[in-house]
Amino acid sequence: MRRFSYHSFLKIYFSLLGVVLLILVYPFIRYTLSDPSNEIAVSSVKIVGHRGAAGHAPENTLSSFQKGLDLKVDIIELDIHLSADDELIVIHDATVDRTTNGTGAIEDLNMSEINQLDAGTWFGADFKGEKVPTLRDVLELVGDQCPLLIEIKWPSKGIYKGITQQLITLIAEYNIQESVIIQSFEKQYLQEIHTLNPKIQCHQLVLATSDILPIYMDRSIHFSYFEPLQDISSVNIWQYYLHSETITNQRIKGIRSGAFTLNNSDDIRKAVSWGLEYVITDYPNRAREALSKK
Ligand code: G3P
Ligand code: CA
Repeated sequence: MRRFSYHSFLKIYFSLLGVVLLILVYPFIRYTLSDPSNEIAVSSVKIVGHRGAAGHAPENTLSSFQKGLDLKVDIIELDIHLSADDELIVIHDATVDRTTNGTGAIEDLNMSEINQLDAGTWFGADFKGEKVPTLRDVLELVGDQCPLLIEIKWPSKGIYKGITQQLITLIAEYNIQESVIIQSFEKQYLQEIHTLNPKIQCHQLVLATSDILPIYMDRSIHFSYFEPLQDISSVNIWQYYLHSETITNQRIKGIRSGAFTLNNSDDIRKAVSWGLEYVITDYPNRAREALSKK
């Protein structure tokens, strides 16, 4: 039997590596080179304050949400996890390590322990003493001033059992069923929300899609073309995988498009010119200026 030489092995190895790199880099090149279309339909665009206004204040804290309100965002985005004693906690990561002075997984900590932590000093001394809020704290602060886009996260393994029921109960208590939007990279959460209350708007998050290969990524990699779930009103995608064709194709199916995290004025204008409706940004003021939105 013919044996591969070391040289042939290297040739095959580097050719395959080249193909993989090309596939990975292609969306970035395409995004960077594509032009904005001529018209910008600003009227239907919503400026979504990412984790409040995470460019101005420590993400997912009451200061950040207040800043979002001050900057007159159309929608406030935030992330939720479930504590060991079943409180809905507003924080991005599954642990408190990056954004507080503590350590540990949210799923292992009680509310009283989380309440001791400083979630502001890492961002700046002015924010010393800032707490990790509960979702109830945020609802109390925001009231009916602005709709919320609530992203349901997951623990280090699996999903939070019962988080969707907890969320639906709180939404009903605050009577925000008509204004709130739920989003997640985890399809099971969106399906549960839809079963619990089909009237609540849901957005599906996706990190990366490809229109040339059957592969997409949300929480994990799937080897098929991306198909939005039934009954979702928008697909929100990582900005570098957003293309005008994707937005147009989704619109044909009656689905809107959002992108995160758009912090650069040119990117915002380009994406909106393609028909993007949800601009998810750490700097709502930049988005407002870029779109000359009153
Ligand atoms: O709103 C979408 C965006 O928040 C998703 O990514 O990691 O910032 O939660 P991430
Ligand atoms: Ca988020």
